[in-house]
Amino acid sequence: MTHDVNRDLVVIAGSTHRGLAERIAALLECPVGRVRYNRFSNENLKVCVEENVRDRDVFVVQTSCPPVNESLMETLILIDALKSASAGRITAVLPYFPYARSDKQDEPGISITARLVADLLVTAGANRVLAMDLHSPQIVGFFRVPIDHVTAIPVLCDALLHTEKSSERVVVATDIGEAKDAGRFAASMKLPLAVIDKRRSGDDEHAVPTSIVGDVKGRHALIVDDEIATGGTIMEAAELVRSMGAASVEAAVVHPVLSGNAVERLRASSLRRLLVTDSIPLAPEKADPRIAVVSVAPLLAEAIRRIHTGKSLYDMASRR
Ligand code: R5P
Repeated sequence: MTHDVNRDLVVIAGSTHRGLAERIAALLECPVGRVRYNRFSNENLKVCVEENVRDRDVFVVQTSCPPVNESLMETLILIDALKSASAGRITAVLPYFPYARSDKQDEPGISITARLVADLLVTAGANRVLAMDLHSPQIVGFFRVPIDHVTAIPVLCDALLHTEKSSERVVVATDIGEAKDAGRFAASMKLPLAVIDKRRSGDDEHAVPTSIVGDVKGRHALIVDDEIATGGTIMEAAELVRSMGAASVEAAVVHPVLSGNAVERLRASSLRRLLVTDSIPLAPEKADPRIAVVSVAPLLAEAIRRIHTGKSLYDMASRR
């Protein structure tokens, strides 16, 4: 199937993150297409596309956030409805990919659900995918349609460089696995890197940060990670870094999942600031003066612009 990319572009907002979809559409100077959602008493969902999308280049902006399973079903029904409405090409724009952490068979008899999500998106009718900072790069290989995988790390770096100047900073990776990403972050900010060494004690499943490779003493530590869920990883790292003599600790994270009591943990921690993106909307009860949000709307709008006009996304791509 060939696609004429010069036809009109339209952004469609799923119900998870309308604000982000509107910011993207404003930057692209295109409309947010009209869609009606009806939830019935039996919990079934009806999605009706009220915009004329016939032969248009449609970008569906939908992230993964609670209720995660319902949001995923809505994404699939929305894409299927757009296909029924004769959309020319459908790109699923997924700032935070559903089930991104279920990316491997780490015990027998389980589903690699991120792969199942990839299959479902394509079955529903997605012709392309635009994803951002996937938990692991192999998710790209789960797709049989083109996928662009961009990174918000430059967005976080820019925000940090503009808000504060500190040559006394050190970037901290939460474990060896994160060292590559954190190293790129450090290189782009021209800062040194320290890496936390995590060890398991005996049969304990939980790896605990035990020491740091690199110098944090007297420095302002900047912990970087792809996501914060329960907050355990970042808070443990923050306490270790402080105990090793860091002058202060802050964190920069792409996806603010902030599940369970993550915000309470943050409030009780020594973390000075948590910088996140708006890949996931921050519920009002999770707002805290220490949480700063930087928008990825310009990044995603630019990616959409390039996909629409057939330009390369090489310099925006994640290198995870
Ligand atoms: C792990 O591989 C990820 O990079 C994050 O460190 C992890 O998802 C954070 O989870 P939590 O906040 O629950 O420790």
